[in-house]
Amino acid sequence: MEKFVITGGQRLTGEVSVSGAKNAVVAILPATILAQDICRIENIPNISDVTAMVKILKTMGAGIKYINKTTLEIDTRHVGSFVVEHELTRQLRASYYLIGALIGRFSRARVAMPGGCYLGLRPIDQHIKGFEALGAQVTMEENAMVHVEAQHLMGNSVYLDVVSVGATINVMLAAVKAPGLTVIENAAKEPHIVDLANFLNTMGADVRGAGTDVIKIRGVQNLHGCEYSIIPDQIEAGTYMVAAAATRGDVLVKNVIPKHLESITAKLIEAGATVEEFDEAVRVKMDRRPGHCNIKTMPHPGFPTDMQPQFSTFLCLAEGTSIVSESVWDNRFRYTEQLQRMGANIHVNGKTAVIEGVERLKGAPIRADDLRAGAAMLIAAMSASGISEIEEIQHIERGYENVVDKFRTLGAKIERRNFPDEDEDVQRTAG
Ligand code: EPZ
Repeated sequence: MEKFVITGGQRLTGEVSVSGAKNAVVAILPATILAQDICRIENIPNISDVTAMVKILKTMGAGIKYINKTTLEIDTRHVGSFVVEHELTRQLRASYYLIGALIGRFSRARVAMPGGCYLGLRPIDQHIKGFEALGAQVTMEENAMVHVEAQHLMGNSVYLDVVSVGATINVMLAAVKAPGLTVIENAAKEPHIVDLANFLNTMGADVRGAGTDVIKIRGVQNLHGCEYSIIPDQIEAGTYMVAAAATRGDVLVKNVIPKHLESITAKLIEAGATVEEFDEAVRVKMDRRPGHCNIKTMPHPGFPTDMQPQFSTFLCLAEGTSIVSESVWDNRFRYTEQLQRMGANIHVNGKTAVIEGVERLKGAPIRADDLRAGAAMLIAAMSASGISEIEEIQHIERGYENVVDKFRTLGAKIERRNFPDEDEDVQRTAG
């Protein structure tokens, strides 16, 4: 079993460069299916969610090769099947974007239900509502496959009952080639929605309004291949910003779009950090114990739920009481048990956590329950005194490229170590 072993208490200082955005690339890779041509995508992060999506696309007949470490060339001319049964589909949330892309191209799709981080119930009713509005019939099969089929997709109005990133993206993918006008109301506004719209438009689509809550898509007959570069990852950037502040460090986070980080920047400043903005970088400095503050997660441009575990961890070190309200997911506080093992005074009641800040956390054996919980564990371990061992690091590697090297460059004492599994240990002793 692989773990991260971290000796805490080092101030993070120096520079770190942010990779391409996970939640953009996992939508843009399936979107290449719509082109039926060759796309060259730059700024691809080296994370396991990308590896999984590339594997799935290859089994569907896409020709994919790396031109260099961060550029992929994807040829979707020979994607012939609308059925995706690959086991990996069930591990990855974003595999449901294959549904939108396949019905956009073939007017039908049969895809295994997606997996991803467990954050409470993750229904797809709004995706289904959108596909049905465009004229498709959706059947949930007994073997956990989603079957979507349309005689002819047609543009239509789709009002989303909840602001959903996934449903907004899936309806965009399905509508791009559907004749007529599709209007998505109450659409999500996250930076990755805008990135997908820009990518689709670069392929010849007509998508307007992305980044606002009304997106208008006029169906086009054909799309073509293109070159495109993925935006920097807002959440990876935010994670390094908060890590810098939690360790009372001084870090320049490069290759970012500061506008995407505004809510995180505002809260760091409220807690007493200094944040300087440059064109494509932010510098975070903190030289004292943070002050308490409250956060409430909201769809963009509100405070992102994907930064909630990391920021709550930071607030565990604050002077005074902070209140954190999670309004996007039903179950995103599981990680707090791990923080309690490190001496944090954090208590959860439903979708609210009350945090009484403590002077210091203490290193402990802890676990990454999911991707962002894992990022929170990294921050906790680096700001704590003593040694922490983090288990289940595969969750972290789904969304953070070269996390060990990047934190080491900033002065963290972190290494990845292989520990024999307990069963293996028993067998060896027995043998
Ligand atoms: C995306 O998930 C992200 N994943 C998540 O990031 C992120 O937490 C989430 O958006 C919110 O920002 C990807 O982009 C791959 P939603 P998604 O549909 O699309 C409810 C990370 O750590 N809902 O915006 O699955 C839902 O239950 C991951 O990088 C419905 O009720 O989220 C939730 O309460 C974790 N019906 C809310 O909407 C639906 O049909 C927002 O979900 C769809 C969603």
